[in-house]
Amino acid sequence: MAIQSKISGTGFYVPEKILTNENLSKMVDTSDEWIFQRVGIKKRHISADNEVTSDLAANAAKAALKNAGISSKDIDLIIVATFTPDKLMPSTATQVQRKINAKKAAAFDISAACSGFVYGLTMADQFIKSGFYQNILVIGSEVLSRFLDWQDRNTCVLFGDGAGAVVLSANHADNGPGIKYATLGADGFVAPEWLEIPAGGSAMPASKESVEQKLHFAAMNGKEIYKFGVQIIPKTINKLLDKNGYTIKDIDLIIPHQANVRIVEAAAKRLGIPKEKFFMNIDKYANTSAATIPIALDEAVQQNKIKKGDKIIFIGFGGGLTWGAVLYEW
Ligand code: ACO
Repeated sequence: MAIQSKISGTGFYVPEKILTNENLSKMVDTSDEWIFQRVGIKKRHISADNEVTSDLAANAAKAALKNAGISSKDIDLIIVATFTPDKLMPSTATQVQRKINAKKAAAFDISAACSGFVYGLTMADQFIKSGFYQNILVIGSEVLSRFLDWQDRNTCVLFGDGAGAVVLSANHADNGPGIKYATLGADGFVAPEWLEIPAGGSAMPASKESVEQKLHFAAMNGKEIYKFGVQIIPKTINKLLDKNGYTIKDIDLIIPHQANVRIVEAAAKRLGIPKEKFFMNIDKYANTSAATIPIALDEAVQQNKIKKGDKIIFIGFGGGLTWGAVLYEW
């Protein structure tokens, strides 16, 4: 009998503090109208001073475990996708292990920016289908607020903090719910400046100058990333449909990375489908990078937008450049 990688639980967590567009307009030269019209965001959540990425991740993980009805002691592996880890070392995943008391779990982080959750889910699928592990926590968690220049209106209005998680479990069955197909891609040949945190790594260790020049904050070329997003969503979805002999009509819901509502609208137009086929919640949480897809998934589940047998596509894209999509049957 085959093994299906089934999502047995979903959960998310966002910090209590809310920062609205109106609040932001008192910090930088911007307006609610500009942010909402250009990006589709109304507000975002910001971590408390004592909250770190592994705290958000652990809270999302606890919610997913509760939803799955399994104990943290049954988790074999914790994968945390993040580019805003607690520390460069040790991994954020090991701190989640401690905070949820998942004693037997292995744990590691992956770095694929906003595609991190789709990369993590695909990796977990391989561990499960090979029979190596039974239950894996895949978490996207970001405290982006600590990596933003709050005086730079080009970036600070776009992002928020949050975490989303799924429990992926082995289901011994020839068909039924599970991951049916996955595709990943990367293009490290384009300019890294399109989306990067220039300093803090081996290329530019922290120095007085790097701090003064604000090189530890996220920097991006918004126009290039916009163009990339608009073309990579339809291209990747069409590849996934072709490989599985489906048309877009066979798909019930698409849960995309939430970077900009206009990117998704333009992609929907190119695919010839109504934008309502995409589940969006960027208005409430902004772009939480690796966390956007699992947060949106849990909200879609809670809002009864997904029913048994539905075919769903998760699609991520981001820094690297990286992208990926997963076809899931609910
Ligand atoms: N408030 C008010 N005005 C602003 C703001 C702001 N927050 N930011 C920029 N502007 C101004 C600019 O200065 C410019 O003014 P000017 O015409 O006087 O020079 C004007 O608005 C237009 O700026 P553009 O950069 O041309 O605006 P654009 O329509 O390209 O939108 C945006 C910018 C929203 C960043 C868009 O390029 C975008 O969404 N890009 C994708 C980036 C993204 O999603 N990044 C997320 C991380 S990547 C990821 O998740 C995959």
